[in-house]
Formats: sequence, C-alpha cells, structure tokens
Amino acid sequence: MKGIFITFEGPDGAGKSTIINMAASKLKNSLVTREPGGIDIAEQIRRVILSTNNTAMDPRTEALLYAAARRQHLIERVKPALAAGKLVLCDRFVDSSLAYQGYARGLGLDEVWQINQFAIEQMMPDLTIYFDVEPSLGLSRINKNKGREINRLDLENLQFHEKVREGYHILLDRFPYRMIKIDASASIEEVLQQTLEIINEKLENQPSM
Ligand SMILES: Nc1ncnc2c1ncn2[C@@H]1O[C@H](COP(=O)(O)OP(=O)(O)O)[C@@H](O)[C@H]1O
Ligand SMILES: [Mg+2]
Repeated sequence: MKGIFITFEGPDGAGKSTIINMAASKLKNSLVTREPGGIDIAEQIRRVILSTNNTAMDPRTEALLYAAARRQHLIERVKPALAAGKLVLCDRFVDSSLAYQGYARGLGLDEVWQINQFAIEQMMPDLTIYFDVEPSLGLSRINKNKGREINRLDLENLQFHEKVREGYHILLDRFPYRMIKIDASASIEEVLQQTLEIINEKLENQPSM
C-alpha cells in the first residue's frame, strides 16, 4: 500500500467537513471521501439503515450494516486510491462506530471493534485527527447554520453527545500513536493550520509519498 490513509473524527459541528476540504486543496495528490461515498452497494446498505420502514432494526443489525457499508467503500474507493499512492482523507471511519454505537449507544467497544476488524481486515488509518469540541459548541454551530435556537430535543441530544465525546477520549487513550487530538473550538484558520502541520509531519516521515 503506497498511499497514506488519514481519517477525521469528532462530533457533528466540530468542523471536519469544512477543514478536510480546505486541507485537501493545499495537499498534493489528495482524495477526500466519506462513507458511503457514492459507492452503489454502500448507498443501498445505507438506505436500509436509514429507512423509516425499518423500525424493528436491532442495534447489532445496524452495527453490522454500517460495517458492511464501510467495507464496500474501503474496497471500492479507499484501497484503489491508496494503491495509486494517494493521500486519502476520510471524513469519519471506524472510530465513529466505536464512539457512537460501541460506547454512547452501549453496544460495547470490544464488540463493535470485532465486527469492524472483520470488515476492514487490518486496514486501519495511518493517522486519525480527532476534532475535540464541547458538544454544545458543535451543536450551536450547526444550529446557527439553520438559523434556529437550541430546543429541548437538542438538549436530550446533548447528553448523548457528551457520551460520544467520552467515547472518543477513551479511544485517544487506547490508540495514542494513531490518534491526535485537535482543539476544534479554535478558529477555522487555527484548526486548518494545526491540521496541515500534523499531516505534513506525517508526510515527511513517509518517504514513499
Ligand atoms: N473552527 C470553527 N469555528 C467556527 N465555526 C466553524 C468552525 N469549523 C466549522 N465551523 C462551522 O460550523 C458548521 C459545521 O461545520 P462542519 O465542517 O460541517 O462540521 P462537521 O463536518 O464536523 O459536522 C459550519 O457552518 C462551519 O462553517
Ligand atoms: Mg460533516
């Protein structure tokens, strides 16, 4: 595998999509992607997960389907790009399943890790940049975009997102060599600069790129 695989993690509103695209425009030979990434089979699986008809879906079924969609995106999009020597920047990956479903939803980090290992076969990211923000800040950024106040449902959401953040912090402890935390409450310019510094340092240590 010649390329470098970097994933971006963190809660909604942390700035992942904003920064990943800004960073890509400054990085040679990069590809930005996210699951399901327009991959037909992965899109079909995602439709099953999200369909309002499927209220009977068991949480483990859901976790398996996410892992299945992840594999297809990995095989069809990520692997060929890495084989072509690209710098692949992926907006969310396995750590999202671990933090959201494994930890916050309570399926168990180890259980979700196991099914994802089957799906990705050791193809872990070379580097994961975790965008850390207070969930209330992430949420308020998103709501600002929509031009509305935070409501009661958002507050319920907030507790869930506090758990997600706790989950990510556990992952930071578990994978200290792969995961780097950025303070994503800083300005877009600062977060972008830090992101580029981290990525460029990684590239310098990878003579193949
Ligand atoms: N560092 C930042 N400071 C202030 N606003 C930001 C910052 N990063 C992103 N935003 C804004 O917050 C909103 C959510 O950003 P987005 O990149 O979509 O987050 P994510 O992809 O992590 O959910 C957007 O309106 C974006 O312009
Ligand atoms: Mg996004």
